[in-house]
Amino acid sequence: MDDISRLDEIGEVLISQKEIDKKVDEIAKSITEQYKDDDAQLVLIGILKGSVIFLTDLCRKIELPLTFDFMSVSSYGDNTTSAGDVRILKDLDQKIEGKNVIIVEDIIDTGYTLSYLVKNLQSRGAKSIRIATLLNKKDRRIVDVDVDYIGFDIPDEFVVGYGIDYAQKYRNLPFIGIVKREVYE
Ligand code: IMP
Ligand code: MG
Repeated sequence: MDDISRLDEIGEVLISQKEIDKKVDEIAKSITEQYKDDDAQLVLIGILKGSVIFLTDLCRKIELPLTFDFMSVSSYGDNTTSAGDVRILKDLDQKIEGKNVIIVEDIIDTGYTLSYLVKNLQSRGAKSIRIATLLNKKDRRIVDVDVDYIGFDIPDEFVVGYGIDYAQKYRNLPFIGIVKREVYE
């Protein structure tokens, strides 16, 4: 068996494919409702690479015209103490001035990444900026961020699947699984 399919590293399924589907439906309905009378252009901004599967499922369920774009950011590792330590590796292709932006994230942990991104995108003159995240580890938050759409609040466990990786693996799992602690500790 090759490395990519070492499912013995996954301890348990935290959120099933069915539960994810239902939740993505609900979030898409809220978004459709919230923006249906707003004429400004709606743009989903996916944060690479973890949000890709969530974004592609979500956008097909939103019943409004929209565009999407991607950014890639990197933080200087887990020991950063300053939100300024986030770097943009790939920036947007389009201007967001006057547009309604929804940042689409896979998981919010400390909040450093998103608080940096919100400030950065605000300075570009968007009409509005909201955040949609599939997963939220709220007990781990260090920097406060206003999150408008949350799929699931989850405990402080290392999770993978539905776009989210451990060492680039497991993004293609259709469910959210917990990586066994002995694997990374
Ligand atoms: P933060 O909110 O700036 O601490 O960073 C959030 C990012 O950390 C997410 O977008 C993920 O890339 C990564 N991350 C946090 N928790 C996990 C996890 O359990 N599994 C995989 N990646 C994670
Ligand atoms: Mg991420």
